[in-house]
Amino acid sequence: MLFIHILALGISCIIALVVASGLTRRRVYPIPLPPGPRPLPFLGNALQSDTKRPWLTYIEWGKKYGKIIHSRILGIDLIIINSETIARELLDRRSANYSTRPVIRSNELAGLAFNTVLLPYGETLRRHRKIFHQVLRAEVSVSYDKMYSRHANELVINLLNPTSDWHQHTRAYAASLIMAVTYGHLADGHEGSFLTRAHELLDIGKHIASPERAVIFTAFPFIEKLPFWCFGGTLALMERSRELCQQLLNEPFDEVKAQIANGTASHSLVADFLSQAHDDADEDTMKAVALMGYMGGIDTTASALQIFLLAMVLYPDVQARARAEINQAVRHDEMPCLDDRASLPYLDAILREVLRWHPVSPLGAPHATSNDDVYGGYFIPKGAIVMVNQWALSRDEDIFPDASRFDPSRYLTIDGKLKDPFVNHFAFGHGRRICPGRWFAENSLWTAAAAILAVLRIDHAKDSNGDRIEVMPEFSTGLVIHPEPFHCSFESVNTAREGHLRAMMNSKVRWMARFCGLCF
Ligand code: HEM
Ligand SMILES: *[C@@H]1O[C@H](CO)[C@@H](O)[C@H](O)[C@H]1NC(C)=O
Ligand SMILES: *[C@@H]1O[C@H](CO)[C@@H](O)[C@H](O)[C@H]1NC(C)=O
Repeated sequence: MLFIHILALGISCIIALVVASGLTRRRVYPIPLPPGPRPLPFLGNALQSDTKRPWLTYIEWGKKYGKIIHSRILGIDLIIINSETIARELLDRRSANYSTRPVIRSNELAGLAFNTVLLPYGETLRRHRKIFHQVLRAEVSVSYDKMYSRHANELVINLLNPTSDWHQHTRAYAASLIMAVTYGHLADGHEGSFLTRAHELLDIGKHIASPERAVIFTAFPFIEKLPFWCFGGTLALMERSRELCQQLLNEPFDEVKAQIANGTASHSLVADFLSQAHDDADEDTMKAVALMGYMGGIDTTASALQIFLLAMVLYPDVQARARAEINQAVRHDEMPCLDDRASLPYLDAILREVLRWHPVSPLGAPHATSNDDVYGGYFIPKGAIVMVNQWALSRDEDIFPDASRFDPSRYLTIDGKLKDPFVNHFAFGHGRRICPGRWFAENSLWTAAAAILAVLRIDHAKDSNGDRIEVMPEFSTGLVIHPEPFHCSFESVNTAREGHLRAMMNSKVRWMARFCGLCF
């Protein structure tokens, strides 16, 4: 992840960096660092790794050097953890020393200082996490159950439209649900305008705050003083990014505030927050938290949903068993809802397996150490970047035999009960930086998967000759990966439930209800 497109900075910048990195002084450590590949001079190990999928390189290194590896890029120490036990030992049990982030200077330039993921450990982060806890903890996120259902029902109907692009619908589900839960009902046109600009911001973010650039800014703060031509269009993008951040932080928030003043606000995170006592500093934090739901939630949730559909096409037996479980627990003409969750352990097991089979963020988010530490006789220096290789954790054959197979029964006891709670999943990260949106993610994924399985059969698509189109799973690369669009078909297998959904979608009552904040 740190290395993707490293050459994109341009040859001239690389030359500047090589010269500069020769100037950084190397510390002498009292005991050995964890084993790892020999660094190349200057560029460290950057050029030795798989630039598109560094997590695969790290698995290869793991075979040679063990489950904790040291590497170096541009003078920065990088610790890679290939084991869940070590991840928990360091990031959970010693969280005081493993909970900060690498400093990413380009962020502030891009107006992204509000970004929770990138905050160093400290007072501001604690304020963010306090508000996340207030508005998105387990009990609160389940109280939005009607909204999850309403959006999941829309998703099912959209998937039934044979001419539409299902990939796009999964994104739209994540985006519109997160918007609805965060801000409630905004005036006509405001939601679309927000989503367009938020999308633009995400794209810019991917471009300028890519980790390999970030690492360069961290290592060489003076790089900001390098001539503009070094960065191509980046500075203009940063300016646009700053402008977008200000608009997106303030506009929807201020609208909800005005709705509260005239008594028209619907149930939402922001409205809930505003109705409780708080000070001005918290209000700024809430704005950030609200926008973070969008920034952190969309790609991840949509990708997990796409991976779910991929698994359902490739493993029809799993799909059939899940549908049978739903049909046994839920009346034939009713949709499953979160109240039914406890009686559907196989469905929970499927979602756990979705996050394991293809972790959506294969390297999580980088942590950094705030103190020197020693682990297993190895020295872990202060300021090192620590990455948990989720991909390696997911492929650990001792814990997940036949790891590349999608097999939800891994998580079930012999009498069919679920082994661990969902939210403990390594896919949500570790320690004090564990994903604060995990209950929301879990609930929204559960509701969408349950609704899809209750109504639709997912199958291979057929070509014009009627032959089935094989699915070859391929994934994008980056911080968050998603399956590339593949062909599949959706067919209704429950006309009672389908009819029920269509009636609900067409009903005028629905719009009234939505406006008043009562959803169904
Ligand atoms: C399937 C869905 C999701 C997955 C797999 C996921 C995964 C992750 C991971 C791996 C991290 C880094 C944890 C660490 O550093 O150890 C993270 C952080 C974060 N996630 Fe999620 N996430 C998901 C959905 C969401 C949603 C829906 C939200 C918001 C509503 C959200 C908000 C955040 C935030 C704000 C952070 C930063 C926390 C911090 O740095 O202290 N995520 N997530
Ligand atoms: C963090 O590191 C310091 C210094 O090495 C050590 O004294 C302290 O016990 C560590 N804290 C944790 C929680 O491991
Ligand atoms: C209440 O305020 C919102 C936000 O400014 C506005 O869109 C809406 O039209 C107002 N409604 C009434 C009834 O005044």
